[in-house]
Order: sequence, then structure tokens, then C-alpha cells
Amino acid sequence: MTPTVAPSRTTLPPEGAGLAKGGPSLRPSGLFISFEGIDGAGKSTHISGLAEVFKAAGRAVTLTREPGGTPLAEKLRSMVLNDAMDPLTESLLIFAARRDHLSSVILPALARGDVVLCDRFTDATFAYQGAGRGFDLATLRTLEQWVQSAGADKWLQPDLTVWFDLNPAEAARRLSGARVPDKFEAQPVEFFSRVAQGYADRQQAEPSRFARIDAAQSRESVWQDVLSVLKTKNWL
Ligand code: TYD
Repeated sequence: MTPTVAPSRTTLPPEGAGLAKGGPSLRPSGLFISFEGIDGAGKSTHISGLAEVFKAAGRAVTLTREPGGTPLAEKLRSMVLNDAMDPLTESLLIFAARRDHLSSVILPALARGDVVLCDRFTDATFAYQGAGRGFDLATLRTLEQWVQSAGADKWLQPDLTVWFDLNPAEAARRLSGARVPDKFEAQPVEFFSRVAQGYADRQQAEPSRFARIDAAQSRESVWQDVLSVLKTKNWL
């Protein structure tokens, strides 16, 4: 099945537009690709596979994840995934982790011209904390703009978000018994139905940034779809 993919566009701010005063500047030669989907959608192996393909094509790759990607952000990840907390606390910790990750890993990598492959980014916060947990979307938008600010009326977003879309009941079947579930993986299927809707809403709001992959297919078909998205963009 052919994945839905919109024509290429560059979302990076112009050179010199740092994340904040004194922050590293960006060069548009870097590519920022995020990967999203509900737990169990099976994105991880494809992200590592893509890292290898980009490296084989001669690109420097920064492979990273959220929450996490720096020592500080990994500590925050452990709290977010394991400790009970209210949704505002959770959102603040996730955005604090994101800020550290952006300023110490993602922005420098983009400035070097790397391909940054990020396992989850802000769409996950809108999907999990917003749609899943029912937290206020306007507050999340404010946090998004603060943390990802890149000059007047601009904020950094991925150039492309590959969304592995899978029916929540199927995802739950795939996850069952796989390992000890974290706080989110232990949620009931209704939670993941809301999260899936959250992703669909994000895609609808910004269709040109998203490529939806039908993650119910065989692993090989999903992989071929992922590759075809990148080839359509002329990035591979
Ligand atoms: P995940 O990316 O699935 O990693 P792993 O494969 O190691 O389990 O797990 C991260 C979890 O964090 C996932 O359940 C979604 C959740 N999460 C949020 O709730 N909000 C966010 O903003 C992000 C980035 C992740």
C-alpha cells in the first residue's frame, strides 16, 4: 500500500535563527525526522534501519529519542515513565527534557548537517498528554512555542514526521506479554484510542509534515513504505 506523503518542504528556520538568544544556529542542510505512533505500533526497528540506510548513503546520523537523548533528559524520562504525577507536572517535565535535548543534541546536529532521527517528539505530547490524558491543548501549545521557539512567530518542528498508524486493539495484542509495561504501556486500550485520535488531529492540522504509514501491514511492507516516503522526498 502506498503511504500518504505530502510534497517536500523545509521547516527549518534560516541560518542564524537560533533556538534562543545565544543558542546554536541552524543550517538548513540538516534534516529533522521524527517517528510517532501508539505503543506497539512497531517503529523502533525501522528507525534503526533508516539510520543504517542514511549512513550507507554517506550522511552523518544522530539517532535519538524522547523523552530522553541527553543524560538530564534520560533522568526525566525515567520519572515520566515510572512515577505517578498530574498531567501538568508530566508535561512540564517532558518539555524540560525536550529543551535540554534540543539545545544540546538536536540543534547542534542540525547545524552540522546531520540527519536527526528522533523516536518521538512533540506530537507525542499532544497525543499522550493532550488527547490521552485530557490535558489542556492550549497550555501544550504555549509550552511548544516556548521550548521550540526559533525567532518571531516560528518554532522548530521536524521536517518530516513518520506516523506508524495502528489500530489500538492490534497494538495491545502485539504488546501483551512483551515485557513489564511502563506507566503508559499499562494503560487500557481506550487510552490508546484517544492517543491515536490525537495523532490524527495533529496530522490533520499539519498534513504536509506528516507521512502516515499503515503499520498493520507486514514488517517488510511497512519498511518498504518508510523507504518510499524518503525516496519521494528525494532524501534517499
Ligand atoms: P517509547 O518511545 O515507546 O519507547 P520504548 O519503545 O522504549 O517503550 O516510550 C516512550 C513513552 O513515553 C511512550 O509510552 C509515550 C510516552 N511519551 C509521552 O507520554 N509524551 C511524550 O511527549 C513523549 C515523547 C513520550
